[in-house]
Amino acid sequence: SGVEQLGDMIANASVIVPFTGAGISTESGIPDFRSPNGLWTRNRPIPFDEFVARQDARDEAWRRRFAMQDTFAAARPGRGHRALAALYKAGKVPAVITQNIDNLHQTSGIVANDVVELHGNTTYARCIGCGKRHELDWVRHWFERTGYAPHCTSCDEPVKTATISFGQAMPTGEMRRASELAQHCDLFLAIGSSLVVWPAAGFPILAKESGAKLVIINNEPTDQDEIADLVIRYDIGETLGPFVGN
Ligand code: OAD
Ligand code: ZN
Repeated sequence: SGVEQLGDMIANASVIVPFTGAGISTESGIPDFRSPNGLWTRNRPIPFDEFVARQDARDEAWRRRFAMQDTFAAARPGRGHRALAALYKAGKVPAVITQNIDNLHQTSGIVANDVVELHGNTTYARCIGCGKRHELDWVRHWFERTGYAPHCTSCDEPVKTATISFGQAMPTGEMRRASELAQHCDLFLAIGSSLVVWPAAGFPILAKESGAKLVIINNEPTDQDEIADLVIRYDIGETLGPFVGN
């Protein structure tokens, strides 16, 4: 079966690079983006230029973020996260590339420096002008007191979750690190991503072109299934559960 073949591929690989999307976190209670209950199925994303230009867009973005706060705060790593953490501790996984912003790879035991966050992190905020970090509690207090999204205490520019919105520049260090990881692995695992958002979706292709074997684990088809060495169209927790260890 697919899972047995995956087990063989994992056993035979020495450098495995996982690349994760929102599908790995649905078991943890966090909705993905493009499923029937997905965030972008329910709400139009707020592009970066709107966030920069309009106070009402910033207010809406923060309202949405705080509406999700209980969900993010309660989320614990699922079987997918825990399996990857076990492979990391076994020395087979040097780092995880993720499109996720939920911090669950870090919570699962992968050190922050080895989680390459292509789309940032929603558990804290940054000023879009000077980059100063702000904590969500501070943002929430400001929001509750004034009714408006906050501006930076240092430079007065808007404060945003430390995530990458559509139209916002990708983080250059993370892009470089992901490229290097994709080019220097022998097994690349694309897990729980629809693989439609670029440039992130370029990394499985880069890994395959660089000689790695490519496995796609996702319960729906993707555009890259045809170049994969193995496609497991099944639940991530069920598929990776056997690799969690103890
Ligand atoms: P998507 O919502 O586009 O894709 C998640 C995929 O995971 C879907 O194909 C689901 O069917 C699948 N899935 C969900 N739960 C699963 C499970 N338990 N087992 C197996 N498959 C499951 O999410 P991403 O590909 O991560 O970016 O989205 C990419 C980017 O689009 C995100 O990082 C975000 C979004 O806009 C930004 O916000 C910049
Ligand atoms: Zn600032």
